[in-house]
Parts: sequence; structure tokens; C-alpha cells
Amino acid sequence: MSVDNALVAAIELLKQQRNAVVLAHYYQSPDIQDIADFIGDSLELSRKAANTSADVIVFCGVHFMAETAKILSPEKTVVIPDLDAGCSLADDCPADAFAAFRQQHPDHFVVSYINCTAAVKAQSDLICTSSNAVDLVKQLPKDQPILFAPDQNLGRWVQRQSGRDLTLWPGRCIVHETFSEEAVLQLKLEHPTAEVIAHPECQENLLDLADFIGSTSKLLNYTEISATETFIVLTEPGIIHQMQQRVPHKTLLEVPGLDGCSCNACPYMRLNTLQKLHDCLSTLEPAIEMEENLRVKALLPMKKMLEMSR
Ligand code: 13P
Ligand code: SF4
Repeated sequence: MSVDNALVAAIELLKQQRNAVVLAHYYQSPDIQDIADFIGDSLELSRKAANTSADVIVFCGVHFMAETAKILSPEKTVVIPDLDAGCSLADDCPADAFAAFRQQHPDHFVVSYINCTAAVKAQSDLICTSSNAVDLVKQLPKDQPILFAPDQNLGRWVQRQSGRDLTLWPGRCIVHETFSEEAVLQLKLEHPTAEVIAHPECQENLLDLADFIGSTSKLLNYTEISATETFIVLTEPGIIHQMQQRVPHKTLLEVPGLDGCSCNACPYMRLNTLQKLHDCLSTLEPAIEMEENLRVKALLPMKKMLEMSR
């Protein structure tokens, strides 16, 4: 894809004029990743949003991520290129249904994956991301019953890794559930020395085929530290752009979806474009707004996560 140099220059100028920082998730398109000031997984992006000295945060990711930035940095203007950039996991867990679920398990400690709305965060005791979920759950007292929401695939994996019994909310990521097991097996046959690396939002049958499982940042680091030359990558293909830069001599293979489609690009993440990034920097809209009461409630379990994360 050819890059629009005039548009890139206009974004750079606006960034300076606004004293803005552009944060991007690895699932953004390569042109957005290339213009970002910082790229990271959900945990790293949260830390960055909490500590930046910029006046404006442009969050190139999905809505719950921009909302998280606002929870952590309420005095900043937080904008997102496309307000419709949602997440199937956040959509799968409406706040009122979640409240009813919690009421059925009043003695449970509520651990919520960061991929949820502020209204669900506000009902949680602790937030986790895919990079710290196992470690955080292991830190909880052994006799404490735990409710885990909203991703059931991540929850099952945490359960296996931590040895803890979790009560799971049945949410799912539409992107990580589309990978075809048959296609992975075929790729393994064609590339017998390849390692399969997977995000824990994948279904259990695919995680069982993985040599390494981790958050987007952990997968990226693994391609560097492993001696293997070829990787079968079971997560959104945006990450491959960073992998290609870190390990240009290695082969990185995408996995097709269940019906052979190349439909594993997150349809929400990919709503953001360079033009929309420019426009939101120019107009400072759409901005994330949040009622202060809700923000303060959602901040408590977020703070706890940041304190407990090693
Ligand atoms: P990471 O925290 O691993 O970046 O995951 C975010 C996400 O939305 C995965 O689908
Ligand atoms: Fe949500 Fe899945 Fe997209 Fe991540 S990849 S933002 S979990 S829909």
C-alpha cells in the first residue's frame, strides 16, 4: 500500500500543535503503526496512557482501550479515529446482564479482562489483560471463588495455567474464533520445523496445537528470542507488520479462517484509517466522555491491576 506523504506530514504537524501522543495497538493497519509514537499490547498501552505528559491522547485501537485511557487520565482529551471501533467481547457482556450474573455468585471475586466496557469494569474487583491474567489470578487467595469475564477462551486457559477453578462468563472474540484447526495442521505439515504461536483468546483446540501462548507483545518478543525460523501466527495479522521489522529474516505465516477466508483482520480495529486519525487530531472529535462516578468506580480495579502487575 502506498503511503500518502502529504497526509503523514499533516498528521505530524497536528501532533506537535496539539501536544498529542498517538498510541496504537498491534492490530492497527501498518500505516497507522508506522506513525504511532508508541505501539503495545493492552497492558503496555494502559501504562503509557496513565503516564504520558501529552495534552491529547489519540487512541488507535478499539473503544474499550480509549475508554481505559480516559479512566486513567481524565484530565486529558482522549480521541479515537472511529467511534464505532468496538469489540465483540465488550459487546458480549452488557452491564445489566453482568450485574445479574454477579448477583448469582455473591461470594465470588470478579476478575474482568480489560476487553470490557467501563460499566463492567466498575462492577469488577480486578482487571487483567492477556499478559498478566495468569499471574494475577495466582496471587488471589486459594479458597477465594473467582468469576472471570468476559472471554471464556482466555478464562479456560487461565484456569489451566493457574490450577484455579473459575466461573466463566460466555463471551468470545469473533476474530480469534475463526481460525481453522485444519489449516494449522496443513501448515504444520508443509513447515515441519515451524512453531505455532497463539493468543489465548483462541479456542482450546487451537491452543492445544500451540508451542507458545501469550499476549500480542509476548508473541512478538517470542519470535525474537526463539531460535526457530518459521512461525505459524494465530492472532490478528496486524502484529505481523511488527514481527517483520524485528525478525526480517524469519518466515511468518498467517492462518486462514474456518471457510478458507482471510478474515482474521479485526473488523473493529480496522475501522480506523490514517485519514480518520488526521481528522480526529484536527477536530479533537470523537472524544471519549465519561461520567465521573463511573470513572472513579472503574479506576479502582484498574489501579489494582497496575499495582499487582509485575
Ligand atoms: P493484547 O492485550 O494481547 O494486545 O490483546 C488485545 C486484544 O484485543 C486481543 O484480541
Ligand atoms: Fe475485540 Fe477480538 Fe478485535 Fe481484540 S481482536 S478488539 S478481542 S474483536
